[in-house]
Amino acid sequence: MNIKHAGNQEEKRELDQLLWEVLWKPLGFPRDVRKHFNLDSPRIELVAVDEKSMVGGLVAYYISDSEVEIRHIAVKSDTQNKTVGKRLIGSLKSLLAGKSVTKISVYARSTSEGFYGRCGFKPVGEKFKHKLFAEHGIDIQPMHLDL
Ligand SMILES: CC(C)(COP(=O)(O)OP(=O)(O)OC[C@H]1O[C@@H](n2cnc3c(N)ncnc32)[C@H](O)[C@@H]1OP(=O)(O)O)[C@@H](O)C(=O)NCCC(=O)NCCS
Repeated sequence: MNIKHAGNQEEKRELDQLLWEVLWKPLGFPRDVRKHFNLDSPRIELVAVDEKSMVGGLVAYYISDSEVEIRHIAVKSDTQNKTVGKRLIGSLKSLLAGKSVTKISVYARSTSEGFYGRCGFKPVGEKFKHKLFAEHGIDIQPMHLDL
């Protein structure tokens, strides 16, 4: 398995489809819901690709010179729990190493808080409810990883 930047429009489209299938389709969200989560700042898009297809991806934004926020991370259901997520986070950390960024932040779904904890993230402040996720029994926990 190889982790790389989503290099061309075809890979970006495939990543968009993967994010929707894993993150939002199961919750009944509309196909174009991702646009509501977009930020108007430079972004990093990484994809995990095995011999046959894309199996995972990550989208992160520069919030400032010193902070990058993971906005989306998803691994295809039949490939979960096989270290792909951890390797995507590791690749992001490597990419940012030695630069001005000192912190990676994330608004973690309560259902994936344990995953971020295993990757070294610490909870910051209290969990809160987001209108789109609360009805699915999912709270949001802000978390940070110091680089
Ligand atoms: C969350 C997700 C990205 C993790 O990727 P993954 O490839 O399945 O996870 P990994 O195999 O790299 O797991 C790394 C560690 O986290 C643990 N872990 C993985 N998913 C977890 C979860 N949902 N809750 C608690 N721990 C979890 C693993 O057991 C492993 O622990 P270890 O280091 O002790 O062996 C992936 O499962 C996924 O896409 N889930 C659905 C979408 C989602 O919730 N995305 C995050 C939205 S904020």
